[in-house]
Amino acid sequence: MDPFLSDRLSAVRAIVREAGVVALDYFSRRNEIVVSMKGRQDWLTEADGAVETFLRRKIAAVFPNDQIVGEEQGGSGGDAMWIIDPIDGTANFARGDRQWCISVGFARNGVPEIGLIFSPAQDEFYEAVRGHGVTMNDQPIRVAPTHDIGTAVVEIGWSPRRPTDDYLALVGRVMRAGATVKRSASGALGMAHVANGRTDGYAEVHINSWDVLAGLVIAREAGVLINDFCSGPWVTEGNPILCATPGIARDLENLFEPRVTLS
Ligand code: IPD
Ligand code: CA
Repeated sequence: MDPFLSDRLSAVRAIVREAGVVALDYFSRRNEIVVSMKGRQDWLTEADGAVETFLRRKIAAVFPNDQIVGEEQGGSGGDAMWIIDPIDGTANFARGDRQWCISVGFARNGVPEIGLIFSPAQDEFYEAVRGHGVTMNDQPIRVAPTHDIGTAVVEIGWSPRRPTDDYLALVGRVMRAGATVKRSASGALGMAHVANGRTDGYAEVHINSWDVLAGLVIAREAGVLINDFCSGPWVTEGNPILCATPGIARDLENLFEPRVTLS
């Protein structure tokens, strides 16, 4: 592996593990910490800011020239950039549901290269480097072999950033095609679950870069087909996301709006 990437993988893998300990401590004290709303159904806890600050400080100490973009503290990116979601699934975190994670991705010249997703409350650690495979808890993972949309499980994410009617329309189309639909409220884990075959697809009409950069590498390395998320001002503005196991990719492509192409 290119030493530029292997140095970053080994250093930041350890940093994400440490951040998991910090986040779990907040999770165990969630009834005592400050919880607020950034907007309708948009949660913020004291842990989000603290974990992002921890990750930024640790990564900047080892790679001072890398850019850092984070959900809570912003940033615009650069040629070598880390994109961080300190707690993805904040609504779950705030209510004591263990389905949340730390998501840290790295992109070089706009290409997703490293993906690290850690769900400390479930003790699941995903890591991938482009072209070098993907593991969960050190075991290789792979997409599900599903070919029939009538047996498929598809996660469809929702946020208040887009009209709820668009979400309901997509859910309706996917269910009428025969799939069952779920929503687990962490986009990063949603993509990781397509990668390990727990689901067959993840779709959301708009999602932010910090929710998906790590998942893009993890899913791609597991054989998932994905739309061209990294286009336009994707780092700061986000894009639609659609990813699917190959056997149902064309079905989901035909059901998703806006139109995207999976490859
Ligand atoms: C949200 C979650 C959710 C997804 C939203 C995200 P947050 O992030 O990933 O599953 O549907 O688009 O904003 O608020 O939990 O960090
Ligand atoms: Ca998030």
